[in-house]
Amino acid sequence: MRHVYSGKVRDVYELDADRLLFVTSDRISAFDVVMAEPIPDKGRVLTAVTAFWASELAGVAPNHIVEVGVPAGADLAEVGLDAAYAEGRSMVVRKADMIPIECIVRGYLSGSAWAEYKRSSTMHGQSLPAGLRQSEKLPEPVFTPSTKATSGHDQNISFEEATGIVGGKVASAAREIALEAYKLGSVRAAERGIIIADTKFELGFIDGELAICDEILTPDSSRFWPASQWEPGTVPPSFDKQPLRDWLEATGWDKAPPPPALPPEVVQSTRARYVDAYERLTGLSFDEWPNGGQRSRPPSEARGA
Ligand SMILES: Nc1ncnc2c1ncn2[C@@H]1O[C@H](COP(=O)(O)OP(=O)(O)OP(=O)(O)O)[C@@H](O)[C@H]1O
Ligand SMILES: [Mg+2]
Repeated sequence: MRHVYSGKVRDVYELDADRLLFVTSDRISAFDVVMAEPIPDKGRVLTAVTAFWASELAGVAPNHIVEVGVPAGADLAEVGLDAAYAEGRSMVVRKADMIPIECIVRGYLSGSAWAEYKRSSTMHGQSLPAGLRQSEKLPEPVFTPSTKATSGHDQNISFEEATGIVGGKVASAAREIALEAYKLGSVRAAERGIIIADTKFELGFIDGELAICDEILTPDSSRFWPASQWEPGTVPPSFDKQPLRDWLEATGWDKAPPPPALPPEVVQSTRARYVDAYERLTGLSFDEWPNGGQRSRPPSEARGA
């Protein structure tokens, strides 16, 4: 095994020519800056949520998951990974040739789409009906891709611009998979009282077929709202990191590193929100997830040592 990549959240190791070990850390980023403090168990929650959706959405498209968990015989120590740390946050995936766009689907008008609509009555360059309010349900879910910036912020783009990046055939196939996955996910989430306002999929080619990769419908990649608290014209409380973003904004931070230190109560409430999102979405108990019930961990583990 060898370490090949660390993103803002995931540490990626190569197992062999076809397979990667994805280890999801407890790092949390906001405004594309990684906070200094980890959110305990966050990586386990993201792994658990992704595993749940991978099986729910199996009929929509192939996905990159080979096996959830650390593969038998993997020498974690070789890459400096602690076995207890890796437990519950690891999955073996197929290496994919990732397409260089983010496959966002929006069912509700929020975030950067709301900001653009207020400015120009458009969403990713497409015009929308007049008079929509913040958080309003869109007439139809819309595929609203963005660039996948290698550094800095991703840019919202139109479908035509996506076509220019990946070609018309791939853009259309990606749109179809992303919309189907969003729609099915939304139906499942609605059964549990949750609205998926928007989400981001990352797709890649595996054996010549477009597959759902990366994380799937997690609180990091999605805006989840409790359906009972959704009201157009307001911003529903979300399970995602919006409360963290709000806290950061209130500090007056300029969004350039280093970020302000997160107080323990912000860390704890963020952890609780992630766990709550998992349990509400799946109806499962996080205590039952590998190492999920453990509340305190040695500091070495929190750092991902
Ligand atoms: N099956 C796969 N094969 C190859 N790469 C993948 C696969 N699934 C996801 N990825 C990529 O692995 C990385 C996961 O790391 P992580 O989510 O931490 O990155 P990120 O911070 O979101 O993005 P960045 O790449 O900008 O650092 C992403 O770049 C993602 O596109
Ligand atoms: Mg990512």
